[in-house]
Amino acid sequence: MTGRYLLGLDIGTSGCKSIIIDDTGKIIKSVINEYSLSTPKAGWAEQNPEHWWQAVVLGIKQLLGENSINSKDIAGVGLSGQMHGLVALDKRGSVLRPAILWNDQRSEQQCREITDRAGGVEALLKLTNNRMLPGYTGSKLLWLKENEPSVFEKMSLFLNPKDYIRYRLTGEKVTEVSDASGTGLFDVKRRVWSKELLSILDIPSGIIPACYESTEISGRINKETADLTGLQEGLSVAGGGGDSVIQTTGMGLIKTGIIGTTIGTAGIVAMGMERFFQNHEGLLQVFCNNTSSSWHAMGVTLNAGGAYRWFRDTFAEGEKLKALETGKDVYTIMEETAAGAKAGSESLLFLPYLIGERCPYIDTSARGAFIGLSLQHTRSDITRSVMEGVVYSLKDVYELISMMGSSISEIRTSGGGSISPLWRQIQADVFQCPVTTVSGSGEGGAFGSALIAGVGVGIWSSVDEALGILKKETETFPDKSKKSLYEDLYSIYHSLYEVLQPVYRELAKRR
Ligand code: XUL
Repeated sequence: MTGRYLLGLDIGTSGCKSIIIDDTGKIIKSVINEYSLSTPKAGWAEQNPEHWWQAVVLGIKQLLGENSINSKDIAGVGLSGQMHGLVALDKRGSVLRPAILWNDQRSEQQCREITDRAGGVEALLKLTNNRMLPGYTGSKLLWLKENEPSVFEKMSLFLNPKDYIRYRLTGEKVTEVSDASGTGLFDVKRRVWSKELLSILDIPSGIIPACYESTEISGRINKETADLTGLQEGLSVAGGGGDSVIQTTGMGLIKTGIIGTTIGTAGIVAMGMERFFQNHEGLLQVFCNNTSSSWHAMGVTLNAGGAYRWFRDTFAEGEKLKALETGKDVYTIMEETAAGAKAGSESLLFLPYLIGERCPYIDTSARGAFIGLSLQHTRSDITRSVMEGVVYSLKDVYELISMMGSSISEIRTSGGGSISPLWRQIQADVFQCPVTTVSGSGEGGAFGSALIAGVGVGIWSSVDEALGILKKETETFPDKSKKSLYEDLYSIYHSLYEVLQPVYRELAKRR
């Protein structure tokens, strides 16, 4: 290890964030390069891994070029990325088909099949500590086997998105424990692949990548990448982690007592734990965390920032124009619009299930709704109701996690949504708990992955020590006068899924 800088790369769903931090945790520069998502059929979500790679190369060049950072001063690279995605490679390492993403819903039938073949939910939980969900890589593998057998036969290995980028950076086709957990084929308690489940499902063990712990060095930058990006050949690349796990590490959530929320495309409510946690009924996702003796419990909602972005793209024409005129960010203008409404949005409720839901309901047929619209509602009420609906959906998961028993004194929030003061206040008021952000929390998995790389290359001796550099940036206190209003509205919100479920089923038959 020579340098004092760390490079973090986060292969997100809407773009790749590339970041350079120094050994005090200071962000030197971060850039995002976007790519598109294709939905060839309703409920499908795919991306071309080559687009991730192009965004990675561009991001690294932008960071090294614009900041005149000498690449010799970079000590290591950390990787994070959207979890569960299936990248199928042939024996030459070429991608066989577009990657099937975490929010793709095509493999519901395969989830049922896997659960049955394992002997039911309880038996499956004994093997992996997680249910098999439509987003998970395991059910996608079975989908591929059943629906595209010629591709499955040619597949010599599968990788998750950030692991594909590792392969391009280093030539190593490997994964690490948190993303392996998210395949649904991993024995999370023992931190090894579940040989038993693989054999029950007839998945050849040859197509399963070798697995590292997050802080272990998993490969080194190869000559091709060095020539393309300007990084030093031989630079260490740490194991890294799935985005929803690693970004909570970057928020300092290794221990119990603090709950983390993330408003990214997906919504996450999570807690770090220093002991293995039995996932009773499998309602949560319990994965390996970024130190070899810690775990991570979370519930992931499929529509958080993604729902707000949909609202921006579909309805916020006025705000977009104003953003162009003023040079402000469109989200800032939307926030000004929302701030014109009172808490509770005049009793307008928004259900964010635009692409189905994963937690607390596992339901690919669920859909979004505005409930209670009237002539009296304004653009401000509607915008604010979307922000509130996303927080109610997080509260549904929060209720499950808080049942784990530890007393919760703080909510730490991250992701794009954490940048919004109004959204932080709505969280504080709905949860009636202080909401904090720490340095780097707006940078998602890229920041956490850079910290993990710093541990890997020895800048910090442990993840605990690395997290010691985090600084509290904002603290938002709950307004007690909003407690009963939000309790009341949340309980109506919470009752709506069950009421609407038969409608969702009927509509699904017509799609
Ligand atoms: C985690 C999950 C999402 C994706 C999106 O289980 O599905 O957080 O990783 O980034």
